[in-house]
Amino acid sequence: MAGATGYIGSAVAERLAEQGHEVVALVRPKAGETRAVPGAAEVRYGDLADPASLAGAAADVDVVVHATAPSGDEAVELAAIDALLAGGAKLVYTSGIWLLGAGTSDEDSAPDPIPLVRFRVAVERRVLGAGGVVVRPGIVYGRGGGIPALLVAKAAEHGRGRYVSAAGQEPAWPTVHVDDLADLYVAVVERGEPGAVFHAVGEEAVPLGAVAEAAAEAAGVTGGGVEAWPVGEASRDLGAAFAEALALRQTVSAARTRKELGWTPSRPGLVADLAGGSY
Ligand SMILES: NC(=O)c1ccc[n+]([C@@H]2O[C@H](COP(=O)([O-])OP(=O)(O)OC[C@H]3O[C@@H](n4cnc5c(N)ncnc54)[C@H](OP(=O)(O)O)[C@@H]3O)[C@@H](O)[C@H]2O)c1
Repeated sequence: MAGATGYIGSAVAERLAEQGHEVVALVRPKAGETRAVPGAAEVRYGDLADPASLAGAAADVDVVVHATAPSGDEAVELAAIDALLAGGAKLVYTSGIWLLGAGTSDEDSAPDPIPLVRFRVAVERRVLGAGGVVVRPGIVYGRGGGIPALLVAKAAEHGRGRYVSAAGQEPAWPTVHVDDLADLYVAVVERGEPGAVFHAVGEEAVPLGAVAEAAAEAAGVTGGGVEAWPVGEASRDLGAAFAEALALRQTVSAARTRKELGWTPSRPGLVADLAGGSY
């Protein structure tokens, strides 16, 4: 499991261990530090930006789950994928729904990536071509983490809820609770068919006005309402590529994923989770 110390990876490693899988965590070395990973039976060291450090990292495992923060550089990402594939294990690669661009999509839609994740088109192709599996999570929330935590922080900073908006449009996010996502990875590890693309989406399109309002409540700022944050202005704070991603209006179906894997997301939705005190 690469990325086992991250937001997604730690939930996945824990759930795999709970379900009786032996988890080997692949983590970056930190000088003078032994890194413990909850749920992992073994910790190996390697850096995905340094393929030579990955020699043997994926040896003697049946499945490699890849859920690391990306470099954004296609060549670096492909070299890491090749190094992980060299051990002969099934590779489960964590991509994302931003690869699909704005509008309505399902598992069969052609990629139409925003610039931030353009590198992932080639990476997905390499993984699928090698008999691996691709998981595209929506915006992940729950346990007080992920991108929604940023909305809570921005609401606290500005005294009212705000969402990034392009051309005055209200964005909509496909979302998934981190614990439903962990369940999906277990299903993919156990029975995901080689060459398959799965969408980890619990709610297909959550309007951001309601999310920003709930984020303001979670931040303890009420009565200020919600404001659209123009993407140009947000870019100066968040970077243009990330601001563009947050302004996307998407509807993403996971109907085929649910059917093929028997996956039924059951945790509260994003707005309910924010209102319920998780943040
Ligand atoms: N969060 C979301 O809403 C979301 C949605 C869709 C897709 N995704 C994708 O899911 C993946 C994981 O996201 P996340 O939110 O869980 O990220 P995260 O919390 O930032 O975790 C990133 C993980 O990657 C590891 N890592 C970073 N660079 C590495 C390298 N060069 N070599 C080895 N490990 C490295 C980190 O390890 P250290 O402990 O060493 O830093 C950490 O375990 C990303 O590819 C992201 O694009 C996320």
